[in-house]
Amino acid sequence: MTQIVSARRLARELGEWRSHRAAYLALADRVRVMLIDGRLASGSRLPAERELSSALQVSRTTVAAAYAQLREDSYLHSVRGSGSTLSLPDGHRGAIPLPQEVPLDFTKAAAAAYPGLPAAYQFAVEQLPNYLSHQGFDMQGLPELRAAVADHYIERGLPTTPDQVLITLGAQHALSLLTHTIYSPGERILIEHPTYPHAIDTFLAAGARLLAMPVSSEGGWDVAEGQMLIRRAAPSMGFLMPDFQNPTGASMSADDRERLARLAAREGTTLVVDETTASLDIDRGSMPPMASFSGSIVTVGSLGKLAWGGLRIGWIRGSRDLLARVLRTRPAMDLGTPLLEQLASIHLLGETDLMAANRSRGLRAGRDLLAAELARHFPQWPVHLPDGGMSLWINTGETSSSALALAARAEGLALVPGPRFGLEGAFERFLRLPFTYRDDELRAGVQALVRASRSVGSVPGRMPLQAVI
Ligand SMILES: Cc1ncc(COP(=O)(O)O)c(C=O)c1O
Repeated sequence: MTQIVSARRLARELGEWRSHRAAYLALADRVRVMLIDGRLASGSRLPAERELSSALQVSRTTVAAAYAQLREDSYLHSVRGSGSTLSLPDGHRGAIPLPQEVPLDFTKAAAAAYPGLPAAYQFAVEQLPNYLSHQGFDMQGLPELRAAVADHYIERGLPTTPDQVLITLGAQHALSLLTHTIYSPGERILIEHPTYPHAIDTFLAAGARLLAMPVSSEGGWDVAEGQMLIRRAAPSMGFLMPDFQNPTGASMSADDRERLARLAAREGTTLVVDETTASLDIDRGSMPPMASFSGSIVTVGSLGKLAWGGLRIGWIRGSRDLLARVLRTRPAMDLGTPLLEQLASIHLLGETDLMAANRSRGLRAGRDLLAAELARHFPQWPVHLPDGGMSLWINTGETSSSALALAARAEGLALVPGPRFGLEGAFERFLRLPFTYRDDELRAGVQALVRASRSVGSVPGRMPLQAVI
């Protein structure tokens, strides 16, 4: 189905789109980068020129020229009578293009596989014959793996039984399952702002109205705002990453965990706590899992960051009742988790300390190298060093990250601009730079940024740093 983008929505999402280029080129550039980074889906229909010109308060000639430019560059196709439809020149419809043509892909904050992974698969292959007499559809997860995940929580001080654990195809799948289970159309969902982009996608696809609780790398969460939103707007669900929040790297204090957990339980908001990044500690130390403050909290976990994204193993920890409801939702989406990967994960969960130490070493080296390179080449950017996580979240002050991302592509570097992590064009001045790459890649990435930034002028005026929607 063609998605129609209204003029009002597009104007909001475009944020502060003007640049040093002529207005029509700046507008075409911004639409193009939003298509490339997934904020606008390929196949969606742009508003009529007259409507957009009035929503943006620019002349109709400017919009017409921007559309003409997009058409010339093969990003827009207009058919008389049926409007102008966005499309990626290489023909992917409704998809974010794979940046194959871009040699350095910094769009993913994820590292290469843990070196112990081949041994885990070896173990899995040896174990597999014991499971072949079953039909192999596993919706809940192998009991041995659920027990290993439960033990992992017990070690962190959170009593957990295997029947409180459901194994999924990674944390993203867990989040989709939970959204379909907990959320009903028309309700609201509280998110951190900025947040993990595919959480935004998941919630918007379900038709949710999103409430934004600000979070920053230096200041952490605006918990007072979050409390106000929970009390006044009664979201049915809240999505939080208290440990090394993606993208800011911030950690929530134990007090804030407790305050939010207790309030949400009282007000009937189900908090979904995503701990995908929780084991990516560089120099912080352990913190109490948020679920230890309230029995109604649902936790999502994954081996994606600690072991390997290609493993596709994650889980949900929640009440038996909730998991039973999730199980009823699941067959519409998929029919279970592959056994080989589950068996490998049993082996890997026996080495969580080794995996965490391995990641910690790599992340520390990457973080410090990237920060040093940035201090050398972009001394005007104040870089806050997170004590864990996978990326730097940088307030560039004057630079439009959408424009920078577009220029960086031409220099062989794919980046995700700041607004992909927020709502309605927020975070245009912010850039997320992952430090999960090899030293030579990080150095080459900063060199590409230096070249890209030369072709991007600064833009007058500032976005509010934390737009609250
Ligand atoms: C916060 C967060 N949640 C979930 C995911 C997805 O994890 P998985 O690969 O296990 O689906 C990611 C991956 O980037 C993430 O950063």
